[in-house]
Amino acid sequence: MAGAERIQHLADAVRYHRELYYNHAAPEVSDAEFDALWDELKELDPSNDVLHEVGPEPLPGTVKVEHMFPMRSLDKGVSDEDIIHFVTQSTFGGNRYLGQPKLDGSALSLEYVSGNLHRAATRGSGERGEDVTLNAKLVANVPLRLNVAVDCHVRGEVVMPLATFDEKYRDISPNPRNLCSGALRQKHGDGKADASDLIFQAYDVKFPKESPDMQNDSELLSWLQDAGIEPAPWTIFESEEPQKEMIEFTQEWGTKRASYKFEIDGIVFKLDNLSQRENLGMTAHHPRWALAWKFPSQEAFSVLLGVDWQTGRTGAVTPVARIAPQMVGGVTVENVTLHNVGEVQRLGVKIGDRVTITRRGDVIPKIIDNHGPASEEDLQNRFHADGTAFTGELLVSKIEIPNACPACGRELNMEGAFLRCIALECDARTARSLTYWCRTLEMDGIGEKLIEALLERGIVETIADLYRLNHTQISNLERMGDKSAYNALDELAKTRTLNLARFLHALGMERIGPEVATTISQHFTSLENLLRWTDEGLDEELTIIDGIGEKVAAIFREGINKRRSLIDELSSIISVTNESEASSGIFDGKSFCITGSLSRPRKEIALAIKNAGGKVVGSVSNNLDVLVAGQKAGSKLAKAESFGLEIWSEDELFGKFAEPKSGPKTLFDYDQ
Ligand code: IVH
Repeated sequence: MAGAERIQHLADAVRYHRELYYNHAAPEVSDAEFDALWDELKELDPSNDVLHEVGPEPLPGTVKVEHMFPMRSLDKGVSDEDIIHFVTQSTFGGNRYLGQPKLDGSALSLEYVSGNLHRAATRGSGERGEDVTLNAKLVANVPLRLNVAVDCHVRGEVVMPLATFDEKYRDISPNPRNLCSGALRQKHGDGKADASDLIFQAYDVKFPKESPDMQNDSELLSWLQDAGIEPAPWTIFESEEPQKEMIEFTQEWGTKRASYKFEIDGIVFKLDNLSQRENLGMTAHHPRWALAWKFPSQEAFSVLLGVDWQTGRTGAVTPVARIAPQMVGGVTVENVTLHNVGEVQRLGVKIGDRVTITRRGDVIPKIIDNHGPASEEDLQNRFHADGTAFTGELLVSKIEIPNACPACGRELNMEGAFLRCIALECDARTARSLTYWCRTLEMDGIGEKLIEALLERGIVETIADLYRLNHTQISNLERMGDKSAYNALDELAKTRTLNLARFLHALGMERIGPEVATTISQHFTSLENLLRWTDEGLDEELTIIDGIGEKVAAIFREGINKRRSLIDELSSIISVTNESEASSGIFDGKSFCITGSLSRPRKEIALAIKNAGGKVVGSVSNNLDVLVAGQKAGSKLAKAESFGLEIWSEDELFGKFAEPKSGPKTLFDYDQ
């Protein structure tokens, strides 16, 4: 066989056998035969794509992994009331709950194929993480082979025992959590912590194919244990009033926390029964069957030294406070947020005041209380994060509220508690919205510096211009080589097709984060429908969507209108694909309209319909499938009757949910 042909043959063979091995668990050749094909290809054509797109073991952080089962976040609570509320809204009467410490490390997904560790990935955005197989294999208690030959995705937290942290790492890192994500993602030899100093604690498992027949999460945790995986410890609550025991449990852990072997930041409570979980379902971003209860936040005192004002991506001009360095929860804090002008006024804080700051999880530290003028002592014995002594002085003055935008100098508007620069062409807003676009779409090689350089040279003015860049324009910029220019173009090319939710999120509209963007996208399903909604000012209200209030709906409509020319320009260059509708179930593909006065809140009814796969619209047309009519239904009822549409009462609607669902459903469908 000639060289090129042989290479093609080898590349095809490697791809074929890899697919069989990893995705079908049905190898046709031995490991040695596979290795021989691989080695020959590597020798003949070391840069062949097949060798680099490999699933098995790329260098950490170089390959993105699409999670087959998204890694969700949880609803959060901080008080006893939050626990009571969680139990009340998730109870079916006498339920069983499970509590586990909420481990403060780094989430990891371990994919096993036929019981062999095939791939490990970080949580990342929840939809996409990074391949960290190489390092995950080093984690002390991660088995390379399970005791059962199944396909499963095990989820858990990678943590560092505090004893190890104290012994080896305390001097180089403020907390074990940072070390965990660093150790998983670093390339060998270039990092701070060793992955072999980490421990994996499992809390969940999903099965892509057959799943063991189990009713409860606690049975799955035991199953994991038998399979050779170490689950996080769990406790069951099943008394008449489980919320009482659960509250006591948080108190017990509050005391135990300081001496526990791993760092924890709260307790996760979950409904144990899996089919009850399925019945409760999810909101756009968290399951309704779990609550992440967090310990009260960590607080400390400091002194306010000065305030800088910054214009953000949405034009909000926010005060960033500089404070005397202060350790809070193991981290030295020197910059904290004061949120907005309203907050500055509410706290009545002046430069030189003694203040309480707080830091909770990853939330940016903030000032929450003001104690009036600080003393000289308040400034003593403070150290920057690098260990050098702090030598600031105590100056007292009023916080000046700016009249002009710190970025573009234009006049500012006061909107509620916020100062805002409304000029869309404001430099800060443009730079930030470009950076936000690139960061949201995970374009690795395009950062703040490159964007600033492009803006400065006038090569780029809008997001759309990014997609018009050519190689010469980028490589001519300072510090941009040939290779980084190609890399930037590659990254841009990858985002020329994206779905509606990512598109909306990346536009960086105020209040439109990934969850809201997803919910809205599932509602409209296409950019075309969405634009029709804004253009025609349709009476269909966004507020019918769970989680979207009037304010967000209004901000969203305005945000789209303001960006209309950008959206039109962008959609002629890139392609925005449709979003599939949210859930699926007995009402798949059916449209509903709700009218009249009903016994349940309208939102709740709409949500129940959507959870069953239906769509809720605001008006009656010939295409409508069902009108749900309550008491005193008026013109919509008359219209539906005249079209001969199906009309259901509220009871009839809810009766449908009680009927058994058709078709087999596994216990594990709930999270997909
Ligand atoms: S259950 C559907 N259990 O907390 C989500 N999560 O806020 C299943 N975490 O990203 C998660 N300890 O990384 C669960 N015992 C525990 C946990 C835990 C820590 C983390 C996890 C997740 C985050 C959720």
